[in-house]
Amino acid sequence: MASDSSKPVYRATTTAPVNIAVIKYWGKRDVTLNLPTNPSLSVTLSQRSLRTLTTASCSAKFPKDDTLSLNGKPQDISSSKRTLACLSNLRSLRQQLEAADSSLPKLSVLSLRIVSENNFPTAAGLASSAAGFAALVRAVADLYQLPQSATELSRIARQGSGSACRSLMGGYVAWRSGDLADGSDSLAEEVAPASHWPEMRALILVVSAEKKDVPSTEGMQTTVGTSELFARRVESVVPERMAAIEAAIRDRDFPKFAEITMRDSNTFHATCLDSWPPIFYMNDVSRAAVRLVHDINSAVGRTVCAYTFDAGPNAVIYYEEKDSALVAGTAKAILGSNTEGWGGPFYETLANVTAPGVE
Ligand code: ADP
Ligand code: DP6
Ligand code: CO
Repeated sequence: MASDSSKPVYRATTTAPVNIAVIKYWGKRDVTLNLPTNPSLSVTLSQRSLRTLTTASCSAKFPKDDTLSLNGKPQDISSSKRTLACLSNLRSLRQQLEAADSSLPKLSVLSLRIVSENNFPTAAGLASSAAGFAALVRAVADLYQLPQSATELSRIARQGSGSACRSLMGGYVAWRSGDLADGSDSLAEEVAPASHWPEMRALILVVSAEKKDVPSTEGMQTTVGTSELFARRVESVVPERMAAIEAAIRDRDFPKFAEITMRDSNTFHATCLDSWPPIFYMNDVSRAAVRLVHDINSAVGRTVCAYTFDAGPNAVIYYEEKDSALVAGTAKAILGSNTEGWGGPFYETLANVTAPGVE
């Protein structure tokens, strides 16, 4: 707090990680509350490579409306119902604290200024909405000194972007879809801490840093409304895979983890292709990465790496530290030779960390 004025500025800064799902969230059963049609599970990546950095401040000096700047550009939050929902939930929690303790400064009545920056491509299928809304919620919760746990805050972050609920904690994280109509049981929980399987690594192949043509929110709405494959994915495929991948994580069984991860990425992209009109997130370079992973696994004679693609062409390849030279070395040598049209860069990252602000 800057105390040199009668109108102090209160401030909190945090970073938040991206997470890359191995069982994909794709589909909303309630658009307003952002409730998913299926549970999902992700690995939180290290903030040393990809992260959002967000500062939230509030002051009586600021103009009356809340503001958000993203990568240096002012955003129109008055038209973003989801950002407004996050901020109003956080304000109510602060109001409750202020009502219980009259000595606390009345921050809930002050306007907020939020400044955020992603150090990786935004809206390109690398989970910027996940890191972005996790950082926004964490920064405002810290500013307001809220006592809520990461799981409780995940309910708020979910309303900003579904995948964001899984970026409030490190390690291996599940988003339980929940049954209740008000969404109060639709939240993230840690399935295993980072320390349970710290050998996990991720190689991120940035095929394109361009903004995607079809944002995730819009793409999943089209799929829910038009794909015939989608119902089967939700009813039987995902529930079986959730149970199987949780067991694979428990047992640190990489081949099992890898096969489920690759199959679920493929099923998700198949439902995109089965949408009407069809949605294409992967491109020829993405498919070259898929072939390369299968080629490496069959050449080695065991499953040492697994690809997965979010709603964009960029590949994330999971592997264990012991196979790092083999997987990352081969992928860089082959794709980086540029015969496949890959545009770079590569990020190699620990996939076993970290909660917002911690690393
Ligand atoms: P991605 O694949 O990168 O998650 P989405 O289409 O899901 O792409 O979401 C991109 C949108 O998320 C951006 O257009 C922006 O509205 C929001 N977003 C991204 N980064 C941030 C951030 N740091 N703070 C707030 N909102 C963000
Ligand atoms: C393919 O969380 O970006 O990355 O809730 O509409 O903001 P909204 O969607 P978003 O969707 C992520 C989709 C995905 C899969 C995943 O992260 O689970
Ligand atoms: Co997103």
